[in-house]
Amino acid sequence: MKGRFIAFEGCEGAGKSTQMRLLSEQLQQRGVPHTVTREPGGGEISEAIRKVILNGKFTAMTDECEALLYAAARVQHLSDTVAPALARGEIVLCDRYIFSSYAYQGAGRGLPRKFLEEINSYAVAHFMPDVSLFLDIPPVLAFDRKHGKDENDRMECAGDGFHARVYAGYRQLLEEFPAALVAVDCSGTKFETSAKIVRLLEERGLIPRA
Ligand code: TYD
Repeated sequence: MKGRFIAFEGCEGAGKSTQMRLLSEQLQQRGVPHTVTREPGGGEISEAIRKVILNGKFTAMTDECEALLYAAARVQHLSDTVAPALARGEIVLCDRYIFSSYAYQGAGRGLPRKFLEEINSYAVAHFMPDVSLFLDIPPVLAFDRKHGKDENDRMECAGDGFHARVYAGYRQLLEEFPAALVAVDCSGTKFETSAKIVRLLEERGLIPRA
């Protein structure tokens, strides 16, 4: 099976890491080689950029700088981690990708989409996920689930209005990119959500059936 690129999207605390772990366990049981990675991060240099972006002390960071740092971490991560794994024929499970930039820096911060498309043009042109899964849970519920916000995380502290705009942004992106971004209802248990994800990916031929 050739390499496949699957991204996980959603608001803070939507359960992406848990769902990625459960999917990784399924793939392991089926003997499918895969790489689990994240944005911003997933490599030495991009993890260093992540620390700068999320540092709660950097309240003076401009929106443009933030967007450029996410884009910079992305290209480095593609080169260090994603491209080699795809070349080995693996399935890449990536925690966040381009739709995070459109939802957070676009809808959340209010940056023009054109600017975001330009700075991410290399990533989008060469590495578009086979599918991006939007774990659909409104931020208010998600923050409840994770027992509040992390005060040292610059993004989590951006305010309820910001996170509401991000969620609304994702909902618009679902309409704009119906083939690329697919919503997964997360109102059930984590195992029910995981079963939905496995079925969806099997139906699309992105993971082999058990
Ligand atoms: P993540 O590690 O997924 O945080 P969490 O697990 O708390 O959801 O992502 C880190 C933060 O970076 C998160 O607040 C979303 C934000 N982000 C953007 O704003 N733009 C981007 O392009 C990416 C990849 C992430």
